[in-house]
Amino acid sequence: MARIAIFGAGYVGLVTGACFADLGHEVVVRDVLPERIQRLRAGEVPIYEPGLGEVLERCRDRISFTLDVGEAVAGADFLYVAVGTPPTYAGDADLSAVWTVVDELPGDARMTIVMKSTVPVGTGEKVRAALDARGLEAVGYVSNPEFTAEGTAVRDFMNPDRIVIGAFDEEDGDAVEALHGGIDAPVVRADVNSAEMIKLTANAFLVTRISFINEIANVCELVDADVERVAEGIGLDHRLGPHFLRAGIGWGGSCFPKDSLALKQLAANSGYHFHLMNAVIEVNELQKRRVLQKLQRHLGGLRGKSIALLGLSFKPHTDDMREAPSLVLASRLLAEGAEVRGWDPVARPDLQGVTLSATLLEAVTGADAAVIVTEWPQLLEFPSEETRRAMRHPLIVDGRNLLDPDAVRALGFAYEGTGRRISATDVLPEAAEPELETSE
Ligand code: UDX
Ligand code: UDX
Repeated sequence: MARIAIFGAGYVGLVTGACFADLGHEVVVRDVLPERIQRLRAGEVPIYEPGLGEVLERCRDRISFTLDVGEAVAGADFLYVAVGTPPTYAGDADLSAVWTVVDELPGDARMTIVMKSTVPVGTGEKVRAALDARGLEAVGYVSNPEFTAEGTAVRDFMNPDRIVIGAFDEEDGDAVEALHGGIDAPVVRADVNSAEMIKLTANAFLVTRISFINEIANVCELVDADVERVAEGIGLDHRLGPHFLRAGIGWGGSCFPKDSLALKQLAANSGYHFHLMNAVIEVNELQKRRVLQKLQRHLGGLRGKSIALLGLSFKPHTDDMREAPSLVLASRLLAEGAEVRGWDPVARPDLQGVTLSATLLEAVTGADAAVIVTEWPQLLEFPSEETRRAMRHPLIVDGRNLLDPDAVRALGFAYEGTGRRISATDVLPEAAEPELETSE
């Protein structure tokens, strides 16, 4: 069993650390945030990630937490880098946290650095050169990108579709592969650049599928077709497959927006204009804004109207608000002069101008419309006689196609999904032309 230091106790670092401890390794997780380390030491889990608490509890004697670099790297065979790589203003990934880890390595370090954080292609080569320049030739370098999705990260780590390992030195690659003993998955061995490219390409292809089906949904709305049936009908083709064809208000989260921008930027910096990636990103931006057009079609101008945003995290089963579509929706609605309330079962974001409601009923009472932004399962129970009576206008804009349109309409709600067939009963009598004073 190996001794593994994990740098970064965020969503990725904690899941990686906990799962390696569960596989029997000795793990030390290091972060720069004292409060985070204190809480972890006290047995608390600082993020909402299903199943993570149980694994950490089970592995208590094999995992420890520290602020101290020396303590983390002492005797470590591997140093996993899982620090944040947020976008810079230029759209490139900000690698300052990654460089700090490399710079902090003691001069006598001998472990293998394993890059888990998502980095631009070419980062491994730069880190290798920096290590060599510091005389740290004995330190190995391996790229081992992560493909875990939030909300299912523990399961994804333990049952991955594949493990990708890119190494300069095949022995280092073998050693990282051996760390995954106990996990049954195909292993893709590659050079470091290609491993880095696999990660960016996987995310780029997934967002392309979503933006594609979202555009199909938009066309479906114009020609009165149902995108849910279309997705089912194409998804059964084994060449296409059923996944990532859920139309909605677009993709968000800590990875997709950042990584698609980083790939677009990487291409541009290398002299290539990546037309498709640009379009995929633009479609996603516009998709969130279409909700406003739907609200305006029913309510006229939105000034003074009260809109309830149901589900705020970027997807269900996480409290993560990074690049959540709810953020864009809330600010667009506020800019139109609407009063905005928010409800989420887990996320408690501090959104300026948005009133957070403790219950669904409170969120929709007196509201002119309810928008399903994130498909939390609790929202399946939301349409009822009680909520319809509580609303000023019983209008539901379903940004995730969560609800059954017929059942919702039977309860007396007006309903608009995304790319779903529109019912003649949906247009409310008081619908008016949108006010001209929109400020977009
Ligand atoms: C991160 C990267 O953002 C992403 O590119 C990669 O795919 C996986 O790792 P995530 O774990 O979701 O994703 O990030 P976050 O939850 O922000 O955690 C990063 C942690 O690193 C934080 O706890 C932060 O305090 C810590 N950190 C940051 C360090 O320990 N050192 C630093 O210098 C900077
Ligand atoms: C994603 C990747 O799935 C994962 O492999 C990578 O390591 C990190 O980024 P995550 O961001 O946690 O994981 O969530 P995911 O379930 O992939 O959803 C991302 C976004 O796409 C969400 O906003 C979700 O609502 C949206 N989405 C997903 C759709 O709009 N339609 C779909 O069909 C699927």
